[in-house]
Amino acid sequence: MAKVAFIGLGVMGFPMAGHLKMKGGHDVTVYNRTASKAAAWAEKFGGTAAATPAEAARDADFVFTCVGNDDDLRSVTSGKGGVLETMKSGAILIDNTTASADVARELYAAAKEKGVGFIDAPVSGGQAGAENGVLTVMCGADQADYDKAKPVIDSFARMVGLMGAPGAGQLTKMINQICIAGLVQGLAEGIHFGKRAGLDIEKVIEVISKGAAGSWQMENRHKTMNEGKYDFGFAIDWMRKDLGIVLDEARSNGAKLPVTALVDQFYGDVQAMGGNRWDTSSLLARLEK
Ligand SMILES: NC(=O)c1ccc[n+]([C@@H]2O[C@H](COP(=O)([O-])OP(=O)(O)OC[C@H]3O[C@@H](n4cnc5c(N)ncnc54)[C@H](OP(=O)(O)O)[C@@H]3O)[C@@H](O)[C@H]2O)c1
Repeated sequence: MAKVAFIGLGVMGFPMAGHLKMKGGHDVTVYNRTASKAAAWAEKFGGTAAATPAEAARDADFVFTCVGNDDDLRSVTSGKGGVLETMKSGAILIDNTTASADVARELYAAAKEKGVGFIDAPVSGGQAGAENGVLTVMCGADQADYDKAKPVIDSFARMVGLMGAPGAGQLTKMINQICIAGLVQGLAEGIHFGKRAGLDIEKVIEVISKGAAGSWQMENRHKTMNEGKYDFGFAIDWMRKDLGIVLDEARSNGAKLPVTALVDQFYGDVQAMGGNRWDTSSLLARLEK
């Protein structure tokens, strides 16, 4: 059993922190900017809620963060009242936010100055993956820190991998988002075409999902896409944040991402339709407008 702190109890963090307590059996202290969520978490799982990130992280062996973007992450780690103010030497900071590789390297250096380890550890698997404790976790870290943290991360994960040095976890998550962007647009076009052709979409997907076109998105999203339901899942605002990070990184490493750049603009169109919080599968709504 380790002493663990968890900062950021959103759609993802709330259940992840719950698994650290219930499945991992760890002693968990949480912090959330909106204090009522931390109180609800403590009530549900029986852990402790702290008033600031620094207070939650005091004496912890492992500190997890899962907030919105680079600036949010800086404010709860290296900012005033952030976890690096109190983390003890030898402890490890594990960040599950989807953020840039640059901020991961920056926090690795800031943590190292205090004798603290840092792992960038973004996740994939969505809300359901977090609730069921079966996330995929992509890590960038020093081997020794990774070896110490992996059994703790396992509490909410089905697959955990060390991808390379600090920043490599975020770069891997970028590849994940690149692969999803083009795929979802292809799926949206397929369903759109099928409807125009007058076919039974359920029947079409039942057959083609077992062939070479099958995917997680096809299995898990075709039904709601066919019904025009998008009020759930992974919000377009978050996806555009992720694609912005991807396109910035591609500008600096010279990768050509024409389809990703186009799909990012399509998501902009869906935001203009009012779909900021709609699931990423709502690319179909844009075709049907
Ligand atoms: N949702 C998904 O399916 C999914 C999948 C994979 C990865 N991710 C990534 O995981 C991260 C969290 O996503 P989520 O869906 O859990 O988001 P969310 O539900 O919007 O929760 C965000 C959390 O971060 C906190 N926060 C944001 N800015 C903060 C700040 N400046 N200071 C302190 N706390 C702050 C929020 O506190 P409040 O409660 O006070 O607002 C909330 O607890 C994001 O980077 C996202 O891209 C999400």
